[in-house]
Amino acid sequence: MNVALSPDPAAPEGQAPDPAAAQRAALLADALAGLSAPRKTLPSKWLYDAEGARLFEAITRLPEYYPTRTEVRILTESGPDIARAVGPGAAVVEFGPGDGAKAVQLLRLLDAPAAYLPVDIAPEWLDTAAARVAEALPALRVQPVVADFSQPFDLADRAAGSRVHLGFFPGSTIGNFEAEEAVSFLRRARATLRPGARMLLGADLVKSVPVLQAAYDDAAGVTAAFNLNLLTRLNREAGADFDLGGFTHRAAWNPDLERIEMHLVSRRAQTVQLAGRAFQFAEGESIHTENSHKYRPERLRALAEAAGWRAGASWTDPDRLFSVWLLDS
Ligand code: AVJ
Repeated sequence: MNVALSPDPAAPEGQAPDPAAAQRAALLADALAGLSAPRKTLPSKWLYDAEGARLFEAITRLPEYYPTRTEVRILTESGPDIARAVGPGAAVVEFGPGDGAKAVQLLRLLDAPAAYLPVDIAPEWLDTAAARVAEALPALRVQPVVADFSQPFDLADRAAGSRVHLGFFPGSTIGNFEAEEAVSFLRRARATLRPGARMLLGADLVKSVPVLQAAYDDAAGVTAAFNLNLLTRLNREAGADFDLGGFTHRAAWNPDLERIEMHLVSRRAQTVQLAGRAFQFAEGESIHTENSHKYRPERLRALAEAAGWRAGASWTDPDRLFSVWLLDS
């Protein structure tokens, strides 16, 4: 394999960086801000500690959770068509590669991909994804990029020899952003990628409420455990004293904003301590922990266009549960 790690630009000079301590400080700051807000909230990115990642992985295998298997099915069944639309020699730049499984699937279906560049702020995720892709496609150039893609960053001349950059953002992760955040992410991605780049984007579709509800509140309670794990994490990493039995998982469809909202609902009036401060909860008051937006095709198109892309071909499954889009710059 051919793997070159970029240096960590955030590491202070002459000092061993302590990413875990920096993470805890950021978690604490977000928790203090979010729990002080009139409507309590926590950023969904904190759901993914090691246990959260394990639980999410279990979610993707639940009978009710259709997005992952449907996106895989679209990539399989429309693979030849997608490969033709993308063309040969693409360097695939994946934003947040996870375990690299979807990259392997995409790279296998594409015609002679030139390189794979996973981008993530967490080097351990990059190593996992890079190793998986390098093992599956030993001849491919794999070049991990340590960068926070919620900020502008430069690919410099990485993958310079390739014909075209193909951004890859699967899983409807775009749905976790508010509309303005989604537009700025797409605009930044366009600036980061080479002129003439394209982007393969997974987007979950609006559908019947019971199907959505079940996908985010499964019978086995795995999504509930995934949501409640955030409180366990706050207790462990931010010194909070949440009573795990004092909160329940709620997934609710917001028809105006066309998104599933996850909340942690307080079962009773209670006080929670965090960093020497007391936070009051009324019975039924919640912490809003995640948004998962669902799209109508015309809205996805408008979002892409607001960010300077043009929505080109798109693919879906026979039940129109999920969509995969090829954006042109
Ligand atoms: C991370 C966007 C794929 O919103 O469906 C799954 C996260 N949350 N169940 C989604 C999630 C609850 C998921 N994605």
